[in-house]
Amino acid sequence: MTVTYEDLERHYSKFVSASAMRKKLVTFWLPDPNYSHLEEDDYLKSKETKKDLIPLSLGLPNSGFFPIKSIDLNIVDHPFDNSNDDITNPKNIANITKTNPVEMDLSHVLQYGDTKGLSPLLEFVQDFIKSVGNQPLYDEWDTIIANGSNDSLFKIFETLADENTTVLVEEFSFIPVLSAIYGAGAKAVPTKLKIPVVNKDNFNSNIPYNKHNEGIDVEYLSDMLDNWATGPYKHMAKPTLLYTVTTGQNPTGVSTSMENKQKIIDLAKKHDFIIIEDDPYGYLRLPLFNRSNPNENIYQADDFNSTRYLKDIMIKSYLSLDDDGRVLRLETFSKVFAPGLRLSFIAGNKYIIKQILDYTDVSTRGASSVSQSLVYSTLKTMSQRDNKPMCEAWLDWIIQVAKEYTERRNAVLKTAYESEAFKKGYFSVIEPSAGMFVDFEINFNSLNGEFCDIEGMNRINKYFVKNGLGVVLAYKMALDVELSKDHSTLIRTAISFADEPKDLIEAVNRLNTSCIEFFEKRIK
Ligand SMILES: Cc1ncc(COP(=O)(O)O)c(C=O)c1O
Repeated sequence: MTVTYEDLERHYSKFVSASAMRKKLVTFWLPDPNYSHLEEDDYLKSKETKKDLIPLSLGLPNSGFFPIKSIDLNIVDHPFDNSNDDITNPKNIANITKTNPVEMDLSHVLQYGDTKGLSPLLEFVQDFIKSVGNQPLYDEWDTIIANGSNDSLFKIFETLADENTTVLVEEFSFIPVLSAIYGAGAKAVPTKLKIPVVNKDNFNSNIPYNKHNEGIDVEYLSDMLDNWATGPYKHMAKPTLLYTVTTGQNPTGVSTSMENKQKIIDLAKKHDFIIIEDDPYGYLRLPLFNRSNPNENIYQADDFNSTRYLKDIMIKSYLSLDDDGRVLRLETFSKVFAPGLRLSFIAGNKYIIKQILDYTDVSTRGASSVSQSLVYSTLKTMSQRDNKPMCEAWLDWIIQVAKEYTERRNAVLKTAYESEAFKKGYFSVIEPSAGMFVDFEINFNSLNGEFCDIEGMNRINKYFVKNGLGVVLAYKMALDVELSKDHSTLIRTAISFADEPKDLIEAVNRLNTSCIEFFEKRIK
């Protein structure tokens, strides 16, 4: 697709907030444009320019001032690898010194770096996007490194939103995003999700359980946009941004299918909005749970490999369907590497990435080069150890993480479905299709309206706490509790932090006990 930078600027400059337009770096080190016409006089023209410039203009410390000579990284073989092998096997050691790795050595890493990111890492993330088939259908796209997706989001909303902006947000969402939206002065409007629920009645039938049609409710969104001028939000500007947590949604665990992504892209074109695809869990795909073989984990199959993962398991990004630059994709190293790195990246059209770069130039500058080097050196060591290209070695690691999450998910669902409380209908289950959240929906129907759902959730939460179970009451992650009342009794449980699957089994047993006690033994 031929979209030029000028086309992008022409179309997308109207999306850029006035505040971001003002945020351009004021420099003192670039040539003065007022004197750019000055030519060398005849004497200078006749003189050779000295090759070895002594740069007294640069306010950088010499690398001799840095108090670190080298950094040794011990790389593990697989998640939860507690063996000593990583320390004794030189293949698992990444050594960062003043000369190594040549493309990102310590003198550069500890020095001021490019705001956009260190180029070896930027090249890697671009290659990775291409290697998994997520690159857009036009050429003028780019990437920028940021300090975690939270930071990516903050910068995106500062750049694209202001007092006149309405942002569409999934009805349940990663709620801290609202701080970035409101911080930019903008407003958020919820859009409905399809959240398939497994309960004791449909457990064996599979009928209502359509995993292909979960995630954003396209008909609702389409209808809301078509009828904006007469709908409940008519007093607000028509949305210019859609924020979506696409795969393994936080908090519901649902994923939007490719078919629906295409429909949403078509809607974005029709109503001219930008899609902000926040996808921290995208690679952590959980294959469909097999009720007749609950321990099935296809990642464990001997012949499972990255080709099969890409072909049968991974859901591609909105970016892969984007032919005119209206998708911004956010990825983070938080869930597949480590959150303490504070490292993420944004991919999208060159014009908008340039605006975010300008914003970054006057705010955080580049993400920590040390974090960037840590990631890069780890990937390079994995690649050398496994004798595979970097992208493939990294994908192999991601697959191992997804395998571990699948085992955890299996343990949780199996225990839940076998529990007395599920069989009695006290709770239903939302089977996650990716990521780290398994949600349960508490069914208060048998209590005949004794109290409203929200009060019920706060009451039953006391039983959870008493039984030693911490959960998130998902209504606190809803934009409009009234709009989301069909699912206001959801709880979000994260399967990520437990040491082992057996701890998760114990947690589900506690959920079971809490429900039995609450529904059967509570003294009113
Ligand atoms: C949907 C979503 N977006 C962004 C983030 C923040 O990620 P990061 O650690 O990269 O800032 C999270 C973290 O939980 C998340 O769930």
